[in-house]
Order: sequence, then C-alpha cells, then structure tokens
Amino acid sequence: MQRRHRLGPLPALLLIALAPATAAANDLGEKLAKEGNDNGAAACVTCHGADGGGNGAAGWPRMAGMNADYLAKQLDDMASGERDNATMKPIASGLSAEERRAVAEYYAEMEVPAEAPGTDAAKSVLERGQAIAQQGLWRKGVPSCVACHGPGGDGVGADFPAISGQHASYIENQFTAWQDGNRQNDPNDLMASVAKRLTEEEIKAVAAWFASQPARPSAE
Ligand code: HEC
Ligand code: HEC
Repeated sequence: MQRRHRLGPLPALLLIALAPATAAANDLGEKLAKEGNDNGAAACVTCHGADGGGNGAAGWPRMAGMNADYLAKQLDDMASGERDNATMKPIASGLSAEERRAVAEYYAEMEVPAEAPGTDAAKSVLERGQAIAQQGLWRKGVPSCVACHGPGGDGVGADFPAISGQHASYIENQFTAWQDGNRQNDPNDLMASVAKRLTEEEIKAVAAWFASQPARPSAE
C-alpha cells in the first residue's frame, strides 16, 4: 500500500502510455514462439516448451521468467556466433533484431515454472554442489555462484542470469562450451574463468544443486 501511494500519477500515466507498445511486442513474441517465421526460425515451443520450461533430457533450457535483456543478448550472440551453438544459430539468425526482442520479452513475462526440474543426484553430491554454489572454492579462486547470480541463484538484472530452476544438463553444457571456447560472450570472461577452474565432478554437483532449486522471479 505504502508503495502505491508514493508512485503518484506520473508513473501510472507512463504505464498507460507504454501499454499498447508492450502488447504489440507480445503479440509478435507469442506468434514467433508458437509458429516461428518464414526466415529459418523454427517455433520455439517445440523445444523450449509451451510453458517455457525447456527439457532437461534434451538440453533445452528453461526461459520462462528470465530477464528479457539477457535473453535478447543471448539471441544476438547466438546469431553473431560469439556463442556458437549449432541448433540455435540458424534460429537466432532467422530473427530480426525486433523479433529477438519481442520473443525475449514474451518469455520473460511468462511465469517461472512452479517445480524445480529435479535431479537424481545423491545427497552427498547435492551437498557438495550447495557448498560450491554458496561458498565457492576459494582454494582455486572460484567465488560462490550466488555472489554473482544473486541469492539462491535467482538472477540479478540483465547481466547475471537466473540459474536456479535450470536443467542440470543445460548448465553442464554451458560449462563445456566455456571450457572449449564455444561460448565467448560473457563480460570480462567471468564465466570462462570460473568454468576453467572446476572439475567435471564439481560441475555436475553444482549443476545438480541448482536443478534441485525451484526458479523464482529474478531480483531487478
Ligand atoms: C530444435 C530445438 C530448438 C528450437 C526450435 C529453439 N531452440 Fe532455443 N535453444 C535450443 C538449445 C539446444 C539451446 C541451448 C544451446 C546451448 O547449449 O548453448 C537453446 C538456447 C536458447 C537460448 C539461450 C537461453 C539462455 O538461458 O541463455 C535462447 C534465448 C533461445 N534458445 C531462444 C529461442 C527462441 C526465441 C526460439 C524460437 C524462435 C528457440 N530458441 C527455438 C534449442 C532450440
Ligand atoms: C564473477 C561473477 C560470476 C560468478 C562467480 C559465476 N557466474 Fe555464472 N555467469 C556470470 C555472467 C556474467 C553470466 C552471463 C554471461 C553472458 O552474458 O552470456 C553467467 C552465466 C552463467 C550461466 C549461463 C546461464 C544461461 O542461461 O545460459 C550458467 C549456467 C552459470 N553462469 C553458472 C554459474 C555457476 C554454477 C557458478 C558457480 C560455480 C557461476 N555461474 C559463477 C557471472 C558469474
């Protein structure tokens, strides 16, 4: 209540002024997600799911509720090849800049999936993963994941994506991509330097722990 009082009339007017533009972008985003376009972009829902939850067995990430600017940046980077992924390259390249933004906003506005993807990792592995996530591995110079990705790994703004509620397979694939140099789009090599310091066993543990955590809306 207190917040609403402080807002005053100006932001409310701004919201009204912005409403039609957002609605139009979402119509375009929804159409692209459900149908794709005629320029090589396949319908996103085929892989990323109608609820934006992705698919762990296939390595398709959840996008529902993730930051719109982050998702749009990833699409730009996958089109340019800075993030080199054979499946997403023709799809991202087949979208115009306006379409990338619209579809990113469409997924960002979706509700985060209610349930964590889950994992069949043993309890001892999950405990190891939780320790890396929350405390890091200082002897190797690895800060905690939550230091950058926010408390719980829920994401912070456009730069630090949500990793809670993400599929373990997808998280592992990203670490491999940074280690192999197929993903080079992180500011200041932040993730590449983290990824190169972790062993396969450590990556599997931390990925399993984040997959066992339900996604929550990101902090702004
Ligand atoms: C044939 C399956 C497939 C289709 C169709 C597909 N994607 Fe993807 N998408 C993937 C895979 C696989 C990845 C993970 C790539 C990797 O491991 O780096 C991915 C990753 C992404 C990412 C990165 C997410 C993140 O958290 O960084 C974005 C954004 C994305 N896709 C958007 C889209 C959009 C928008 C569409 C529709 C226009 C679409 N995808 C259609 C398979 C697909
Ligand atoms: C120093 C800051 C920092 C630390 C520490 C850090 N990250 Fe990141 N991480 C980033 C940034 C920045 C990005 C976004 C890169 C980009 O723009 O593509 C990212 C991206 C990711 C992604 C890709 C998400 C997606 O949707 O594609 C995963 C997975 C990830 N980090 C996992 C981790 C894990 C697990 C840890 C702990 C072992 C960790 N990160 C520690 C900064 C950090």
